[in-house]
Amino acid sequence: MLTLKDLTLHYGHSQILYDISMEAKPGAVTCLMGTNGVGKTSLLKAISGTHPRSGGSMVLNGQDISARTSPHARAQAGIGYVPQGRDIFPLMTVRENLQTGYACIPKSDWTIPDEVFELFPILKDFLNRRGGDLSGGQQQQLAIARAMIAQPKLLLLDEPTEGIQPNIIKQIGEVIKYLRSKGDMAIILVEQFFDFAYELGDHFVALERGRVIHNAPRAETLREDLLAKVSV
Ligand SMILES: Nc1ncnc2c1ncn2[C@@H]1O[C@H](COP(=O)(O)OP(=O)(O)OP(=O)(O)O)[C@@H](O)[C@H]1O
Ligand SMILES: [Mg+2]
Repeated sequence: MLTLKDLTLHYGHSQILYDISMEAKPGAVTCLMGTNGVGKTSLLKAISGTHPRSGGSMVLNGQDISARTSPHARAQAGIGYVPQGRDIFPLMTVRENLQTGYACIPKSDWTIPDEVFELFPILKDFLNRRGGDLSGGQQQQLAIARAMIAQPKLLLLDEPTEGIQPNIIKQIGEVIKYLRSKGDMAIILVEQFFDFAYELGDHFVALERGRVIHNAPRAETLREDLLAKVSV
């Protein structure tokens, strides 16, 4: 599981995150919510190592990874990151995009797990197609599949439903439920699509201007209360 304690983050001189403490447990979906600009993506960047935190600690499965700051080291430690906007390599094929996931695992493990094509059959059909030629929904599926290649212990999903049509949203929801049901992966889901998040979440964290204003399991999270906290 992931434990964050008093995590802070700055861009230059401006402080964006203040003393963020939260956990993400295996076999559970932890939803990170809040309006535009509250710092959700920044928090995922700090966890994935794509932007350095300025203070606080980060422990993954009992191991303090605070000092292992590069994205590569974080990926090797078991963190998979599906960034907002997906960041597919447009000129590379679907196969090559998936193979970029090999970068942080030993060569002996360089295969695309069957599970990936079972969950996203469309990717098998489009293996030789360029990433940039896929639809937005297909690119989102590719981004999730790419993060699964290294079989992460912690999966970070940044607004996977953004700009995606309802049938693909439903499918992504099923994939998240399947990954949770395996029981060994912790999932942090950043979402502004309230009903999608509320239906899936086991634990809810809400941010407001870089601070945690709600941090509670589902049983202690009233729908209307959370909705009020994450609405403008
Ligand atoms: N590279 C950067 N340099 C300076 N400021 C930044 C940078 N990235 C983000 N910010 C600022 O940090 C704050 C938090 O941004 P962040 O992207 O983390 O928000 P968010 O909660 O993910 O928003 P959204 O819901 O729109 O994706 C915003 O005020 C944003 O303008
Ligand atoms: Mg964001």
